[in-house]
Formats: sequence, structure tokens, C-alpha cells
Amino acid sequence: MKQFSPSCERNKESILTVLQEVLPASGVVLEIGSGSGQHAAYFARALPQLEWQPSDVAENLPSIRAWRAEAGLPNLREPLLLDLFAEPWPVTSVQALVCINTVHIVSWPGVEKLFTGAGRLLASGAVMFVYGPYRYSTRPLEPSNEEFDRWLKARDAQSGVRLFEDVNALAHENGLMLAGDRAMPANNRSIWWIKK
Ligand SMILES: C[S@@+](CC[C@H](N)C(=O)[O-])C[C@H]1O[C@@H](n2cnc3c(N)ncnc32)[C@H](O)[C@@H]1O
Repeated sequence: MKQFSPSCERNKESILTVLQEVLPASGVVLEIGSGSGQHAAYFARALPQLEWQPSDVAENLPSIRAWRAEAGLPNLREPLLLDLFAEPWPVTSVQALVCINTVHIVSWPGVEKLFTGAGRLLASGAVMFVYGPYRYSTRPLEPSNEEFDRWLKARDAQSGVRLFEDVNALAHENGLMLAGDRAMPANNRSIWWIKK
């Protein structure tokens, strides 16, 4: 039931540092693609002023529930079944959206769903945060991400490390203005936008 992700253990602290800076002082944070549920438990404990709403496709909900049960935190909500492709989404309004290591996993139409959903759900001034590997038209992809991209595509031809400029254009089309893009350990990025 309870899955363990080594990468979550490695990146949770550095992601938390950015979240502490960019998330609002209160409100509900929707996490899309919560995976094991480790990040949800860690962030909810570290950010008690926020309500953490994990979500994922059905197969991951048991692990998220197990991490939630163990954490026993009042601000960590029962995970929602949220498949980017299944509309309507089971939420109508949240104060922030967080999506970690998922943009390179889902197909490009899935990324489009993520950003149209963010544009629909977020009120003016709300933040959308993503974390993961990105390529940039202005510089070569790092060798580690080149290799990761090949691995991803061999597994699923529709996945892959996304071009920042494509993702940012999609965000812009959905009323999200770039607010930050920060280098993170292991050639990852934290990128966030503010809804107009
Ligand atoms: C690499 S995992 C990242 C999980 C977690 N955020 C982390 O950092 O460990 C990618 C996540 O995307 C989720 N995912 C894939 N397709 C999805 C979809 N159509 N809708 C919502 N989530 C999806 C997977 O279930 C998985 O939890």
C-alpha cells in the first residue's frame, strides 16, 4: 500500500524552501500527481497554515491514504481521484496548485489539461508551481536530463522533458504570468506563475 519514493526524500527539502516563499499564507493547495503521498505528508506538516489537498489517478490513492493516515495531520485532506483527462475535475476552487515531476510523465495533451485546469481553478493572484527537469531553447540540455529524456521516451513515446518555452506559452494562454524560474539540485527547476 504505502509506496516509498527515494527521489521525494532527496528533493522534498529544497522544494519546501521554494514553496515557503511562493505559496499563500492560507488556503487550499491542490497537488496534482501526488504519487506516493510522501510530499503531501511532508509539506502539510511543514506548512500547517495551509490545507494540503493531494490527488492522483486511482492506482496511487492507496499509498497517499497510507501516508496520510500515518501523518495524522488535520490539514492533510483525503486524496482526490483527479485524472487530468477526466473532466470535470473534483474541485472547483483552490488557492494554489502544485505539480511535481509530472509534466514530463504525462503526454503533451495532459500538460495542456493541467494548464487549462489551472487557468480555470485559480483566482487572480493565485500561484501555480511546477518542479522537474526542463529543456531551454537557449542552451543544451544537461547530459543527465538528455539520458533521462531518452529513458522516458523509450518507456512512453508521448512523455519527455518539456521545452520551457512551450510550457510557458501554454501557461500564458491560460492567463498565467511567469513569476519565477529557479535552478534546483540535480538539474531540476522550480517554475511558478501567477494568475492574471
Ligand atoms: C513521476 S510521478 C511523480 C509523483 C510525485 N509528484 C513525486 O514527485 O514523486 C508522476 C505522477 O503523475 C501521475 N499521473 C500520470 N498521469 C496522470 C493523469 N492523467 N492525471 C493525473 N496524474 C497523472 C502519476 O500517477 C504519478 O503520480
